[in-house]
Amino acid sequence: MKKNRTVLVTGGCGFIGSNFIRLLLENYPEWRVINLDKLTYAGNLLNLEGVEQVEQYRFVKGDICSFELIQDLFVEEKVDTVVHFAAESHVDRSITGPADFIQTNIVGTFNLLEAARTTWLSDSSGIDSPQFLHVSTDEVYGSLGKTGFFTEKTPFDPRSPYSASKASSDHLVNAYFHTYGLPVLITNCSNNYGPYQFPEKLIPLVFHNSMIGKELPVYGDGKNVRDWLYVKDHCEAIVEVLNNGLVGNCYNIGGNNEKQNIEVVSLICELLDKKLGLPESRKPRTSQITYVADRLGHDRRYAIDATKIKDQLGWQPKITFEIGIERTIDWYLAHQSWVNAVVDGSYQQYYETMYGDR
Ligand code: NAD
Ligand code: DAU
Repeated sequence: MKKNRTVLVTGGCGFIGSNFIRLLLENYPEWRVINLDKLTYAGNLLNLEGVEQVEQYRFVKGDICSFELIQDLFVEEKVDTVVHFAAESHVDRSITGPADFIQTNIVGTFNLLEAARTTWLSDSSGIDSPQFLHVSTDEVYGSLGKTGFFTEKTPFDPRSPYSASKASSDHLVNAYFHTYGLPVLITNCSNNYGPYQFPEKLIPLVFHNSMIGKELPVYGDGKNVRDWLYVKDHCEAIVEVLNNGLVGNCYNIGGNNEKQNIEVVSLICELLDKKLGLPESRKPRTSQITYVADRLGHDRRYAIDATKIKDQLGWQPKITFEIGIERTIDWYLAHQSWVNAVVDGSYQQYYETMYGDR
């Protein structure tokens, strides 16, 4: 296990990336952390409030599609570890506008791989035991019927522009391992939930809409199934893969926690009714649930078989859904100013305040 690292985290101002950086800074004070983020609509410096002053942390505003910028960072910072989160991540946006998904998720990943290859694999690199960890999704495997689980051997069958772009990037990462011997690792994880998730995704969207008395849109019949995992468990799994994973391997990460969407939405309503009392209308918040048109190509069911990471690395989720969802709702209740800043767009001014025209 490497004691000292210089980790380039891409997309560290997003939901999972910011939770991951917080985890690293708390637990690995000897690691240097460089956060490269373009600050798209999904990138939010408020997610890392309080972290800017930490000595071993550096934020760089930049696009993974700019090859020179990345290569310069690799050289200047002597990066020896990449944890690559940066992506366009929302399936609905990929349906209405796929172009950014192709650029960032495929071309951006290609640029990072090229920068890693040209700096790490040159004779004079001097970098000790580098690692490129690519953070991917269970959506590359497609959709399950009523039974079965995704294993690392399940053939890819992506069905949305988002999952197709992620599958393409996974293929590129594997190709750089087989062709050039680039030391890569891939993780394919199920649906995350927890603090700092952008309120376009189901759980924070339902939280926000129920707080302001808006309808809670449930796609189709509400019976699509996702396997929910608390974000800290995902971040800990990534650290475990970095520290002990076998180079060239892919690890599935999941919560062993399948829920129909309607169950999740109803549970959030019930928790809010319990914590806050009924809304002004005196009707339970479940009355705000509105069935709406289905997502195009909506994958029916995801479920991860996480036996490999459990057997090889001893990782398994620590937070049950019952505890995790209550913790998440409590976090959003305590951080309504964060939600409001995202919804009214004021979070985007934070860069100017923090870093001026740097
Ligand atoms: P997110 O949308 O919250 O954050 C993405 C971050 O990437 C943002 O900070 C954004 O500014 C940045 N970014 C986007 N394009 C960029 C570019 N061209 N250059 C630099 N930065 C850029 O996403 P998330 O939910 O935190 O997901 C992070 C990663 O984890 C993604 O790769 C996603 O595919 C994967 N993943 C997510 C989940 C989930 O449930 N959210 C599950 C499995 C895997
Ligand atoms: O499985 C991992 C994936 O999980 C990640 O790779 C993606 O980046 C992440 O966004 C997530 O994708 P989903 O499409 O599963 O997440 P989302 O929160 O958008 O939707 C969860 C389920 O809820 C899905 O079946 C669609 C449904 N849904 C979603 C929204 C936003 C609704 O019914 N209503 C909604 O308003």
